[in-house]
Amino acid sequence: MSQVLIAPSILSADFASLGSQVREAEAGGADWIHVDVMDGHFVPQISFGEPIVRALRPVTTLPLDVHLMIEPVDPHLETFAAAGADSITIHVEATPDLAHTLRTIRDLGVRPGLTLRPGTPAWALWPYLDLADIVLVMTVEPGRGGQAFMPEMLPRIQQVAERLDALDGERWLQVDGGLNATTTGAAVVAGAQVIVAGSAIFGDAGGVAAAIDGLRGAAAG
Ligand code: DX5
Ligand code: ZN
Repeated sequence: MSQVLIAPSILSADFASLGSQVREAEAGGADWIHVDVMDGHFVPQISFGEPIVRALRPVTTLPLDVHLMIEPVDPHLETFAAAGADSITIHVEATPDLAHTLRTIRDLGVRPGLTLRPGTPAWALWPYLDLADIVLVMTVEPGRGGQAFMPEMLPRIQQVAERLDALDGERWLQVDGGLNATTTGAAVVAGAQVIVAGSAIFGDAGGVAAAIDGLRGAAAG
């Protein structure tokens, strides 16, 4: 199996030093930078929007992996693409015509990703899997960092992995929420290929690089 990728979520970074936090993550071996956009409507919290993607674009060569927790989605896709997003992941709950939205993202030259809340049945993903390069299994309720990993999502990770295995093309199964050195191993055994981690990386007293190493070790089992 190819190496598991680590995607630090800047939601838990020090916003007053965002550029240097992202540089630190890159120097520490991060693979992607995960950017959580929240609108105070699709989820209760407001995080930040496209200006942060634009500001970070010149700071790192790593892919900027944008997770949109916003509704509606369609009016904002072009803006995030122009700001420098490499992938845009949308929620099945947040847009009426998923196929159209996923195709629009690809037409903008950005990798489309698809995700769902823990309470949404996994079958909501099935008709759209071939339109997405990334399938994200949320392992917490979206909206906040620092929540506990939901082990009941492990069978879902496995189900998605089996379905993605049957498809062609370069695809990633990503997990997001409560991933740390304790929970990452089980997620990877279930089939996760990209580990998003916020508090476990930017909240680690040992520093960002050591935390990324720790997650890599946990992923390797
Ligand atoms: C939650 C976000 C996550 C969040 C994860 O809505 O999608 O990306 O930053 O944070 P941790 O790793 O702290 O659970
Ligand atoms: Zn996220």
